[in-house]
Amino acid sequence: MKTKAFFLCCLFATAVLSAQPKLNPNNIPEIVKAMSPQEKALLVVGFNSACEGYTPTLPGTGGLTHPFEKYGIPSVVMMDGPVGVRLEPDWHDGLGEAHFTTCFPTGLLTAASWDREVAFRMGHAIGEETLDMGADVILGPGMNLLRNPLNGRNFEYFSEDPVLSGSIAAAYINGVQETGAGTSAKHFAANNQETNRLDGDSRMDARTLRELYTRGFEICLRESEPWTVMASYNLLNGEYTQESYSLLTGILREEFGFRGLVVTDWTGMRNTPLQLHAGSDLFMGGMYKQTEHILSSLEDGSLQMADLDRAVTKVLELVVKSVSFRLPDFVPSLKPDLEGHAKLARETAAEGMVLLENKGVLPLRPSRVALFGVHSYDLIPGGNGAAFVSCPYVSQVNDALKEAGFTLDPQLEKLYKGYAAFIDADLTLNHKVNVHVGQPQKKELELTPRLIGEAVSSADVAVITIGRTSGEARDRVLDKEFLLQENEKSLIERVCEGFHAAGKKVVVVLNICGVVETASWKQLPDAVLCAWLPGEEGGHAIADILTGRATPSGRLPMTFPVDYFDIAGAEDFPYNFISDKANESVVHPERRGLDPKNLMYTDYTEGIYVGYRHFLTRGVEVAYPFGYGLSYTSFEYSAPVVKRQGKQVVASVKVTNVGPVAGKEAVGLYVHAPLGNFADKPERELKAFGKTRLLQPGESQVLEFSFPVQDLGSYNAACSRWETAKGKYTVYFGADCQAPAASLPFSL
Ligand code: BGC
Repeated sequence: MKTKAFFLCCLFATAVLSAQPKLNPNNIPEIVKAMSPQEKALLVVGFNSACEGYTPTLPGTGGLTHPFEKYGIPSVVMMDGPVGVRLEPDWHDGLGEAHFTTCFPTGLLTAASWDREVAFRMGHAIGEETLDMGADVILGPGMNLLRNPLNGRNFEYFSEDPVLSGSIAAAYINGVQETGAGTSAKHFAANNQETNRLDGDSRMDARTLRELYTRGFEICLRESEPWTVMASYNLLNGEYTQESYSLLTGILREEFGFRGLVVTDWTGMRNTPLQLHAGSDLFMGGMYKQTEHILSSLEDGSLQMADLDRAVTKVLELVVKSVSFRLPDFVPSLKPDLEGHAKLARETAAEGMVLLENKGVLPLRPSRVALFGVHSYDLIPGGNGAAFVSCPYVSQVNDALKEAGFTLDPQLEKLYKGYAAFIDADLTLNHKVNVHVGQPQKKELELTPRLIGEAVSSADVAVITIGRTSGEARDRVLDKEFLLQENEKSLIERVCEGFHAAGKKVVVVLNICGVVETASWKQLPDAVLCAWLPGEEGGHAIADILTGRATPSGRLPMTFPVDYFDIAGAEDFPYNFISDKANESVVHPERRGLDPKNLMYTDYTEGIYVGYRHFLTRGVEVAYPFGYGLSYTSFEYSAPVVKRQGKQVVASVKVTNVGPVAGKEAVGLYVHAPLGNFADKPERELKAFGKTRLLQPGESQVLEFSFPVQDLGSYNAACSRWETAKGKYTVYFGADCQAPAASLPFSL
């Protein structure tokens, strides 16, 4: 009797199981219908170590979606992002084999290339590595606007201009997604400071939001289709972005036409029904409490099933795109093409380095080099936090110069290498550093006059590297991080003094995560190269530029001000705030006697006048303008053309290499627009950009540009629409926003 009952039971179970529809790209509505509310509430909440049945696939995984075997729904695996696949540092598999991924140059450098092709190729390689490591989605690109030079995550992002940011982000996304991996354009929107990043309110007017902070995402979505967009942590005008219907549904989905999934940044518990209603589809990192909240909200009517069903649909649409679903038998190799991608990392790093000064010293001829600065021997490849990549090695400037045939001052090399190793050992032994946070910045040594004197006599030229790093959850501060520290400044001064007295030259290399003060010292050395955080092949790439193996073609994606307080809205940022927790929320500043301004809320008082829009319009002097950068060759512009073709503006300009060596030229197309109905407008704004191929001396290329006429307009908040003024425009060609090479009038 018992056996019969058991048999019947099994039969019933099989029948029920086989009656379950299995997910396929065409039956998503059917699956949504078949799922119970509980299953739906589990699906939209991240699956993590607290969940039953969780088996970590890949150490370092950012997040997983919930699997449901009975519907044939696997987990989608998400990894950080954005400059390489972020594995757990020091990860060794069961057989004791160590695993690494490639650390590519960071966002600033990518944008400084002004080259979509560079971003595309890098994205493609990162997409391949994402799949090689068994993940489906890379959590990048990071594309928040560089509102203030001190934001701790600026290095991950692209530019102070939304056109450059949006288009470079799109190229990266297209590169990743061509491999079959997905992306997450983050962090939407107005997430421009790390201090109190979870609960800070970014306050601004509608015009500012549209023309700057959502604009990059709008352009990105026009040129690519990221699988996901990540809703940021912060509030926007008093509302969490993740809970903002007008932002996520109104602007992102309805206006920008985004069809993918909105994932929340890795947030804890918030108002789950409100988040779902607003348009958040997937809650990461995920807490069971959120699932419970969804179910109780369905019961008490504060959540409509339609909102949950939309989110479930979006998660399932993501699942069917993923490799985990499409190729269930796919076994990740765990062996990315480290060698091939290192070559690419080297090439791309050289494309975005910006030559700021060169008084006839670069490129260097094979010679004896006195290499100063601890980061010449201990380069900072990338920043800290989610963007940290555990890579197999970091190429060093000292080694790369030697490979290129230079002789280094052995005394300095021994000193600095020993010093760097000592600091590392101290940090490790005393547990002062968390391996997860990346490479620390090291304090510069105070050198004796005798040591500098000996270097002057034994070397032909000096190279000094100055390093800066930053990362998630903390902004940089003005003192010591934006400004050079006393011993860094004195190193530059004393080395310049000694070498110049002997008729020898000095080059400064900036290995930096963002803008630093340069105005007070930039005239001292004979050359300054901004190498950013250039990835694992940074040493080689710096040497490639210094020696002329590559001609610099990077252009600044942001302005370098003379003084921090020259930027608009300088006071509206926690520019010298040091959190006692060095981290996260400053939720109750009043309890600690702190002013809530810039901690609980930040007023974007500068409005649309961020970066060059401010400096150009108000004629404020800068150290280096947006778009600035030198080359070893020179270019001439001719035959500029601009015309309207239906709904598009089309333009072109011929660029000829008239200098002595091969090189590439980045070209910006800026527009000066009439005021129309607006009381004010920036003097000039970037509307399009491009870059030539490598042009040999004498060679020319015609660069073509095209963008919608509507892009010439401004956002009229009073009637919630873009307005394009009739009248006389001027179109400028050239990367440097202050010194365009060609211009011509244009009328609408
Ligand atoms: C960061 C995101 C990141 C996520 C997952 C968050 O703290 O803000 O950029 O993708 O963590 O690691």
